[in-house]
Amino acid sequence: MAAIKSISDVDLGGKTVLVRVDFNVPLVDGQVADDTRIRAALPTIQKLVDDGAKVILMSHLGRPKGSGYEADFSLAPAAERLSELLGTPVAFASDTVGEDAQARATSLASGEVLVLENLRFDAREKANDPAFSQQLADLADVYVNDAFGTAHRAHASTAGVAALLPAFAGYLMQREVDTITGMLDHPKRPFVAILGGSKVSDKIKVIDALLDKADTLIIGGAMCFTFLLAQGKDVGASLKEDDWVDRARQMMDKANARGVDLLLPTDVVVALSISEDVSAQVVSVDAIPSDMMGLDIGPATAARYADAIAGAASVFWNGPMGVFEMEPFAKGTEAVAVAVADNAAADTIIGGGDSVAAVNKFDLADKMTFISTGGGASMELVQGEQLPGVEALR
Ligand code: 3PG
Repeated sequence: MAAIKSISDVDLGGKTVLVRVDFNVPLVDGQVADDTRIRAALPTIQKLVDDGAKVILMSHLGRPKGSGYEADFSLAPAAERLSELLGTPVAFASDTVGEDAQARATSLASGEVLVLENLRFDAREKANDPAFSQQLADLADVYVNDAFGTAHRAHASTAGVAALLPAFAGYLMQREVDTITGMLDHPKRPFVAILGGSKVSDKIKVIDALLDKADTLIIGGAMCFTFLLAQGKDVGASLKEDDWVDRARQMMDKANARGVDLLLPTDVVVALSISEDVSAQVVSVDAIPSDMMGLDIGPATAARYADAIAGAASVFWNGPMGVFEMEPFAKGTEAVAVAVADNAAADTIIGGGDSVAAVNKFDLADKMTFISTGGGASMELVQGEQLPGVEALR
């Protein structure tokens, strides 16, 4: 398989470089509420600026209708935040491939940065429309993809345009792919994988793939109830997927056959409803009241999981253990986050999405080896799938 070409191998001074970044960041009151993804792209942007390239950044933000401008999805706040982080002015085009973008792209000087408006205001982006890809390519001499978080989408800006210009991976893209595939292909052992989240159906491919790689697979989140059903337990009013009980059982058999330690809760925190002020109690998984739902792993389970994590040489974590956004159901996720953070000798990867939010909530981000900026993309990589945004760079 052809290697990915990286920007570290080239000097792009004087060139106009079109960079796909993932500035799909949360906005609150028109301000960037979490700039992690913008910060993550800074090394690539700074390298291009230092090289003396003319830098054009493009991204999507959210899921607009695709029929033109929608104020709530404008990338203008992200461009403003980028300007603050870079400490230099950043130009902003009010369109993507239209007159304003073309004029601003043409007038860029070496070392200057331009951000284009949201790619998804044009339906041709998601359709990977060849004419749209060509219009994007016409803006520049070279293409760089640093949008790992969007690498699982085959869109014009991630796949189409890469075939039309010399194409390189940015530092973030390279680091994400190398770090995640590095752990999967050559994990330091014991390799402990932790999966949470609500549905077995969403995670089945990841569970299956990790059972081929990990020494221990820890299961938390509401999806544990489908596994507990497969063990013959009564899970009360907990979220469960009856249609997936057989698949859960197959996964337990696979773990057995491969000698993987599949850890499931032995106690859970239950309540009558999901709210901050509800009265929650800890029960054994053999005694879940019929009218109550499990909303977190219990303390004995958290301690057992923490022990397994303490003995790991590498850890991959995706998905919370419970409804960690609410105080009564946050302890299990916090215990796991602390255990991962405390294992300073291990390689620890947090695979995007809610587990990143959890690590941030408990203020443990700087204790992790690597925090992925891509939830969906990192899951697809773990599942062994090819990411269109990466393949297009080969
Ligand atoms: C993400 O946040 O997962 C990426 O930016 C991709 O966004 P999407 O799921 O809307 O394609």
